[in-house]
Amino acid sequence: MKSKTQFVCQQCGATYAKWMGQCTNCKAWNSLVEQVLDNGAGGGGKSAIAKGKLSGKKLDFVKISTIVPSDAKARLLTEFNDLNTVLGGGILMGSVCLLAGQPGIGKSTILMQICAKVAQKHNVLYVSGEESAGQVKLRALRLGAESDKLSFAASTSANDIAKTIESGEFDLVIVDSIQTLAMDEISSAPGTVSQVTNSGNLIIRAAKATDTAVIIVGHVTKDGTLAGPKVLEHLVDVVLNFEGDRYGGFKTVRAVKNRFGSTNEVAIFEMADSGLKEVQNPSAALLAERKNTDGSVILATLSGNRPILVEIQALCNKSNYGYPKRTASGFDINRLNLLIAVLERRTKLKLSDQDVFINVVGGMKLADSAADLAVCMAIASAMAGRKLGEEYVVFGEVGLGGEIRSAFRADQRIAEAKKLGFKHAIGPATVRDKFVIPMKDLRETLIKYVK
Ligand code: TYD
Ligand code: MG
Repeated sequence: MKSKTQFVCQQCGATYAKWMGQCTNCKAWNSLVEQVLDNGAGGGGKSAIAKGKLSGKKLDFVKISTIVPSDAKARLLTEFNDLNTVLGGGILMGSVCLLAGQPGIGKSTILMQICAKVAQKHNVLYVSGEESAGQVKLRALRLGAESDKLSFAASTSANDIAKTIESGEFDLVIVDSIQTLAMDEISSAPGTVSQVTNSGNLIIRAAKATDTAVIIVGHVTKDGTLAGPKVLEHLVDVVLNFEGDRYGGFKTVRAVKNRFGSTNEVAIFEMADSGLKEVQNPSAALLAERKNTDGSVILATLSGNRPILVEIQALCNKSNYGYPKRTASGFDINRLNLLIAVLERRTKLKLSDQDVFINVVGGMKLADSAADLAVCMAIASAMAGRKLGEEYVVFGEVGLGGEIRSAFRADQRIAEAKKLGFKHAIGPATVRDKFVIPMKDLRETLIKYVK
């Protein structure tokens, strides 16, 4: 039953029987995507619209007050408390979750650990299109995932997987990974946008029909460019991003979309010999190996809802070329360039002949505007060769005028710093707390603390 497909331009919607590099209608390149024709709609869809004889009936509506919230459904708990929180209280029955991350980060590992726990009470199926039964067994042994309720199947057929889900035998099904799946009716290669969307749709429909929880793995490249999993984001209920350094360091799981919970929570993991472990006190772990040198500043930041203290390191070297190099690991490079411009203009620090390197220790990726002041102070401290006192943490946003602006959730940042034994915070003047030394201006701050 091949050839029941059509190619649809994603820009203008024109349809074609064959694939072409350019849409002849709107002239867009590479915009044709293969789609399966629904049996019914294939013949009559268009003409029915033309005739104005559309099928359809009045909706069965209900009073909101009488609906049972879907939260009331059972949730499958993983062994990781923070991950359960990220999920909004565990894996909801009938929900479809996409776990996205770069290859090698630990997706298969965490899923096997989740399976191990859930399979203590529920029927779980792990479907892999990437690894053989033998390989998966090795990992299961290593992670102690041994249960009679945990089954395995090797498959790359979306149709077969959907049929298996539809059987209703399993409460949780893992699909590792969406990029290996293909639908029988579609000719394009696994991993292409059309295979990913159509296979995803098939599986989601099966999951909803039988109230089976499904977790789908999606690989993304380092810069997140691969379009495959992105198109799935709209279809699934929950999107979890697994981020961090592949080799050592912390890895974080956060929800970028969650139809059943908040997207502010984060779970922090570390890879050990026996699988992933939740990091209970990330600040202490991040600061454990700290050596207070010039260019090192402790930032009180937030990762999701969690306050975390993290060390920012800066290094400045005289540039050997006409064009100085700026490198940032864990910090936005454009933001760094902006801060360097502010430093040069507002504090008279001369950086135009300096290579500037910024490193956020522990593989953390900062997405916090209040990191600005710490980065500026680290650069100034590296330039001056003077270290900041042990007792300080830093937070605050820096404006283009060199003014220090307020940071959200200052109270949480302060509480975390107190907990770890710091004496003072250098922060925005808007914060009313004795712990914070209020600063209004970048230049004044640098003169007082690092020059
Ligand atoms: P994996 O989960 O296969 O990554 P992904 O499915 O995201 O591609 O494994 C990630 C890495 O973790 C792999 O290089 C091996 C390592 N690892 C451990 O260090 N300890 C363990 O217990 C396991 C199972 C894997
Ligand atoms: Mg894997």
